[in-house]
Amino acid sequence: PVNVKKICCIGAGYVGGPTCAVIALKCPQIQVTIVDLNQSRIDAWNSPDFSLPIYEPGLVEVVKQARGRNLFFSTDVDKAINESDLIFVSVNTPTKKTGVGAGFGADLHYVESATRRIAAVATSSKIVVEKSTVPCRTAESMRTILESNCRPGCHFDILSNPEFLAEGTAINDLFKPDRVLIGSLQTPEGKNASAALAGVYGNWVPKERVLTVGLWSSELSKLAANAMLAQRISSINALSAICEATGANIDEVSHAVGFDSRIGPKFLKASVGFGGSCFQKDILNLVYLSESLHLPEVAAYWRQVVDMNEYQKSRFSRSVVETLFNTITGKHIAVLGFAFKADTGDTRETAAVTLIRNFLAERAYVTVYDPKVEVSQMWQDLTEACPDWTLEQLQKYVTIVHDPIEACKDKEAVVIATEWKEFLEIDWQTVYNHMSKPAFVFDGRLLVDAEKLRKIGFKVKVIGRGERV
Ligand code: NAD
Ligand code: UDX
Repeated sequence: PVNVKKICCIGAGYVGGPTCAVIALKCPQIQVTIVDLNQSRIDAWNSPDFSLPIYEPGLVEVVKQARGRNLFFSTDVDKAINESDLIFVSVNTPTKKTGVGAGFGADLHYVESATRRIAAVATSSKIVVEKSTVPCRTAESMRTILESNCRPGCHFDILSNPEFLAEGTAINDLFKPDRVLIGSLQTPEGKNASAALAGVYGNWVPKERVLTVGLWSSELSKLAANAMLAQRISSINALSAICEATGANIDEVSHAVGFDSRIGPKFLKASVGFGGSCFQKDILNLVYLSESLHLPEVAAYWRQVVDMNEYQKSRFSRSVVETLFNTITGKHIAVLGFAFKADTGDTRETAAVTLIRNFLAERAYVTVYDPKVEVSQMWQDLTEACPDWTLEQLQKYVTIVHDPIEACKDKEAVVIATEWKEFLEIDWQTVYNHMSKPAFVFDGRLLVDAEKLRKIGFKVKVIGRGERV
């Protein structure tokens, strides 16, 4: 196999940045250059005070150790492509917004332009690695593009190496992955390329955790893993509705069910609905793939996971309205948390936006607090989510503050949308003293101690609990 000395990563986002920073840290003998077309993103990665473009616990420490040593960030895509032996394609693959497959299929045009760029500028043979999450058989399209456009004498091996990191725990996930998956053609060249990439991971990942499989299995496994993880959440959220209607407690049900070693305890936490840039996108991608393969029953099966998630968000919003005496018009609601999960500043597909949009539809006033999300990001997300509202109208109904206690002051209700630990440490007695009465707390994350809050005087509604408010 090729001895990889120089790596280029195209795409300096949530995946390319942390993944290749960790490769640089763990492989000091390899030069890693992460490139992106977005100048301000690259400037942030290069910023002298390490104000990196994404927030991820432990990331700054990794970049501090490797940047300038064997880790570089640049907008000179062509140079980095040309110098490298191995290229990760780690660009975004969002759900298509228009055209064939709109709303379901993956928009592959970023992958295609990166691939075309590689073909256009490479003057020597390369291993090209799909890091982005893509539909099954995308590697074949990449091969065709590369082979039809490359310079004579250049040979490309294509690998699939999907990324399984979760935001908020990315560095730990990269340091100690459950597995690294490498897909290749089962030809001698394909297996050689696969061994070269396995050699890179071999610098810190135990051999038995590096799985080498066929290309199509690797591509499909990524969609499958996300679909099955999301399916667990939708299953538990579906049960949370039964709990609320019967008096059962979803935490007790999750605990009891998860004790079965065949099921296991992880990823069974009921919530206001899953968010993040991956789950919904990848399931819709799988649905679209199934439909294009003329497998409508398979498509409908996975579709239901997303439908259940939408139902959970609207069910939660409705229960807020019903509990607040069937009207929230003109009422003041604090929303604690805006990120799609704790320990990230990422807001893509966050349930918080859906809740706020639903509250605004009832003409409630909303005050938002999140410890990590940029204020400008919140306004951008809300304007996109409420296309019928002007920014001026939105700003009349929505206030963004920098302190959770201030967010709750004079409000009728507090809605917990993200499971930030700091919400546990809030002085709830002070919050209660300053709220309108009766003071309601709606816990969409099973975060707070409901009994303790009730003792203070709050009326508390927790997702998946059918107890009195
Ligand atoms: P992102 O939007 O944060 O980053 C992608 C970057 O690629 C952007 O900065 C963009 O400017 C850049 N880019 C696009 N086209 C380019 C081109 N032709 N040349 C150079 N740069 C280009 O996206 P992300 O969250 O890092 O996701 C990347 C891929 O990884 C997606 O396919 C996603 O599904 C997958 N993935 C994401 C996660 C996650 O937690 N975010 C986890 C696993 C897999
Ligand atoms: C996910 C996958 O976990 C990761 O392997 C893949 O590479 C990318 O997609 P991510 O979206 O970053 O990662 O975060 P994850 O921890 O999976 O959470 C996704 C959403 O599900 C969040 O909104 C989270 O709050 C929610 N969730 C998670 C639940 O509601 N209940 C749970 O039990 C777990």
